[in-house]
Amino acid sequence: MASKFFHLAVLIALVASQAMASDPSPLQDFCVADKNSPVRVNGFPCKDAKDVNVDDFFLAANLDKPMDTTKSKAGSNVTLINVMKLAGLNTLGISMARIDYAPNGQNPPHTHPRATEILTVLEGSLYVGFVTSNQENKLFTKTLNKGDVFVFPQGLIHFQFNPSYDKPAVAIAALSSQNPGAITIANAVFGSNPPISDDVLSKAFQVDKKAVDWLQAQLHPVCVQEKMASPSFYFLLLTAILALVSWQALASDPSPLQDFCVADKDSKVLVNGFVCKDPKDVSVDDFFMAAKLDMPRDTKISKVGSNVTLINAMRLPGLNTLGISLARIDYAPLGENPPHAHPRATEILTVQEGTLYVGFVTSNQDNKLFSKVLNKGDVFVFPEGLIHFQFNPNPYKPAVAIAALSSQNPGAITIANAVFGSKPPISDEVLSKAFQVDKKTVDWLQAQFWADNHN
Ligand SMILES: *[C@@H]1O[C@H](CO)[C@@H](O)[C@H](O)[C@H]1NC(C)=O
Ligand SMILES: *[C@@H]1O[C@H](CO)[C@@H](O)[C@H](O)[C@H]1NC(C)=O
Repeated sequence: MASKFFHLAVLIALVASQAMASDPSPLQDFCVADKNSPVRVNGFPCKDAKDVNVDDFFLAANLDKPMDTTKSKAGSNVTLINVMKLAGLNTLGISMARIDYAPNGQNPPHTHPRATEILTVLEGSLYVGFVTSNQENKLFTKTLNKGDVFVFPQGLIHFQFNPSYDKPAVAIAALSSQNPGAITIANAVFGSNPPISDDVLSKAFQVDKKAVDWLQAQLHPVCVQEKMASPSFYFLLLTAILALVSWQALASDPSPLQDFCVADKDSKVLVNGFVCKDPKDVSVDDFFMAAKLDMPRDTKISKVGSNVTLINAMRLPGLNTLGISLARIDYAPLGENPPHAHPRATEILTVQEGTLYVGFVTSNQDNKLFSKVLNKGDVFVFPEGLIHFQFNPNPYKPAVAIAALSSQNPGAITIANAVFGSKPPISDEVLSKAFQVDKKTVDWLQAQFWADNHN
């Protein structure tokens, strides 16, 4: 590893960091940012709901395309899709990024004041780490391979470095804020304009002024950059009925009250989420999982032709209290992730392979359907708690998406399963009325096998 990198890794352990707050919970289905409004609020004022359309939740972000890493001194390029770029994210507490790393490139030590980050490696390998806050300032590091997942707890200083001399690396990251913010330590400290006095810095970093002057000369701000087939009868039926299902506003995960609280799954104590492991026993592997998110999943077993691999707090104990999780979703040709809702999470999704026809339905009284065809690299937001779906309209090719969810345990309520597959069944009296179909149709629906496509 380059000596400059090592030097910085040592320095970051000295920087003080403090606990910060998460995004507020949404108070309505969505509140699309009205960037033309003169009114100042926390985030953005909402556009009139009548003027909201599906493109407020969509961005042809080209997240499948390599970005240029040659211009950056650090050898990386972060393409962040936050509320400024995707107005529908306003109030929803999540964003997404693609990060490209040149050979030996790095995303230098930085913090996100308002977000936990969860990352998966798409190409190459990454040496990553984070440092706990005072007094311990313990560094946790790990080498990640393609498909691995890692968590960087909220507000903590962290970095990623591509150790390969000849190969680039690529990651997709999700952040638990509509506007996570980034404070690149070196830039903020040594590259500020005007510069921080070297008296202050030499004392803070316990190095002589010449070293500070050298560092200040090195650092310029690192740039942070910023299309359907006809659905099957079954799908159509579900889309029609889901508009009738009532829904209510739900709450987000609570904010963390310490750097991390790794789930202690052996504890008998029951709390909201999981009890914390003793921090002395916490190691980097509590934040790591060799999740193989690069590998295709089997979509043949599922009746709906999809397979959701969710990395939540049950699988990755470091996610406890951090309000985020990550999923890979595989779709068979004409497969779908059927209408469902996450009671505790907004979802942000990017298409890695193929095409998806996606949509969500607003709550009562409107129950308006917002739908869109997504291509590779596109990003879409499904607001918290709303019923939504993804469908692969291609009869020949599979599709793959990576999604992040703003809860350590988003939960999934597959509408058809909950309504028609409950045990014991909901009376067909109730259902025929609720769905305005005759009892024979309800009986037929209840007789189907409602398998779960989640792992
Ligand atoms: C990131 O990549 C894009 C597209 O390749 C390029 O336009 C932009 O200048 C790059 N940004 C940095 C900071 O290198
Ligand atoms: C999802 O794929 C995995 C691995 O291919 C397989 O073991 C699992 O049974 C599949 N699950 C479903 C619900 O199809």
